Amino acid sequence: MNHDQLITTYRTAGQGQVFAHWASLSASERTELAAQAAEIDLAEIAELNQTLVFKTSGGGANLDGLAPAPCTRLPANGGDPAEWARAKATGEAALRVGRVAAFTVAGGQGTRLGYDGPKGTFAVTPLKNKTLFQVFAEKIKAAGLRYGRPLHWFIMTSHANHAQTEEFFAVNRHFGLDRGRVHFFRQGRMPAVSYDGKIMLETKSSLALSPDGHGGSLRALHRSGALDLMKAEGVDTLSYFQVDNPLVRCVDAAFIGFHLGAGSEMSSKMVPKAYPEEKVGHFCLQDGKIVVVEYSDMPISMQRETRADGSLRYSAGSIAIHVIDREFARRMATGGDGMALPFHRADKKIATIDARGAAVKPDQANGVKFEMFVFDAVPFAKNSIVIETARADDFSPVKNAEGLDSPKTCREDQLRQFARWFNGAGTPVDTDATGLPKIAVEISPLFGYDAETFTERWQALASRPAITNGLTLE
Ligand code: UD1
Repeated sequence: MNHDQLITTYRTAGQGQVFAHWASLSASERTELAAQAAEIDLAEIAELNQTLVFKTSGGGANLDGLAPAPCTRLPANGGDPAEWARAKATGEAALRVGRVAAFTVAGGQGTRLGYDGPKGTFAVTPLKNKTLFQVFAEKIKAAGLRYGRPLHWFIMTSHANHAQTEEFFAVNRHFGLDRGRVHFFRQGRMPAVSYDGKIMLETKSSLALSPDGHGGSLRALHRSGALDLMKAEGVDTLSYFQVDNPLVRCVDAAFIGFHLGAGSEMSSKMVPKAYPEEKVGHFCLQDGKIVVVEYSDMPISMQRETRADGSLRYSAGSIAIHVIDREFARRMATGGDGMALPFHRADKKIATIDARGAAVKPDQANGVKFEMFVFDAVPFAKNSIVIETARADDFSPVKNAEGLDSPKTCREDQLRQFARWFNGAGTPVDTDATGLPKIAVEISPLFGYDAETFTERWQALASRPAITNGLTLE
């Protein structure tokens, strides 16, 4: 489509304002704007305007017939130890033949943390100040060594942080991973629209574009060729996690084994909610399918509902850790059989320009961004399952600069984990009542990436160092 045709298409769709400053643009600015405009699916925007923007009520989540989702419990909470052992063996067998790849969504902006840079480059460990990316890299390397097959690692970036992310890995020599097995790809973008459904400009020659949400990862995996690469490499299972959570077991053999054993297309980990208002999604059952209802969509009264024994009715919290079947991701990405992720509306302050082209920085929401959530794929998946995990071993995200889910709480949770590992391996470490050790120690995932691997390595040491403040084990 040439420029004139593109402009006509936009005018016909009622979006001619995108080219309001066209006459004053240089040739390169025109090329920039036209390229961005050509990326947009105008029919999709028209539909989203009808379904999400112009609707003033009834846009909330469908809560009809909701019930708590069934979950497989940890052995410590009543689960069958033999079933867990079988699942672990199944997962380990898949890892040994290279069927599993790690997948990190790292396209978010990190606004709440107030950190200027790709969130994965944020330093999180208590002593060595390793970054989130380094922690994941070491865990993935450790799993590759343990199972005798180095893993592929797919990292989804955004347009805003892609180049910086790639450079960070290059400067750090991919943290010792085979660079041919670390793959970066950008997620898609969506334009913001004003409350009258008009696509907004950020400058005279650029649209107000933003990442299309972590749900965009399924489309992006397909579009980037990542799914084809996996197929060629014999990978059919993706271990999905968010960039903000250094405690995550990047690949968890038992979880993978449960997923494969159930013939599930998308499986999820859950932790019992810490308190009713905790900001996590909820695993629920609706029309016989597992669904995730986001914290912002479930009324607080429901979040506080209790059972006869006083425990929370909707207690299964989503920690955004999934196992996803490759071909399921492809089907979701291509929209086959009516399988398409819905978009969600987010009202935001969107930097834009006025009619004369001068910059406008609004102090209240002035438009709508559209985002997809990966957990909306769960109800489309066959045989979807939910597996309980121990929060202390899988979830301590860094989301806020201070308070809950902050660098401080995350650092302390890492220290508690290291203390538990020492105590579990028969080397007592003094802690307070919350399990926080009185001294700071740090264990690299390459030394031990869970209690079991740590114990093996620690007990095999010919001479063990004294556990003193500042001890690091690499
Ligand atoms: C998210 C989940 C919530 C879950 C919680 C667990 C949503 C809407 N909610 O909350 O159900 O309980 O995590 O920690 O996701 N990302 C992208 N591209 C995007 C947007 C986000 O890659 O366009 C990535 C971020 O880099 C991050 C992750 O997705 O790794 C989470 O995004 P965020 O918006 O911080 O989610 P939360 O509201 O914290």
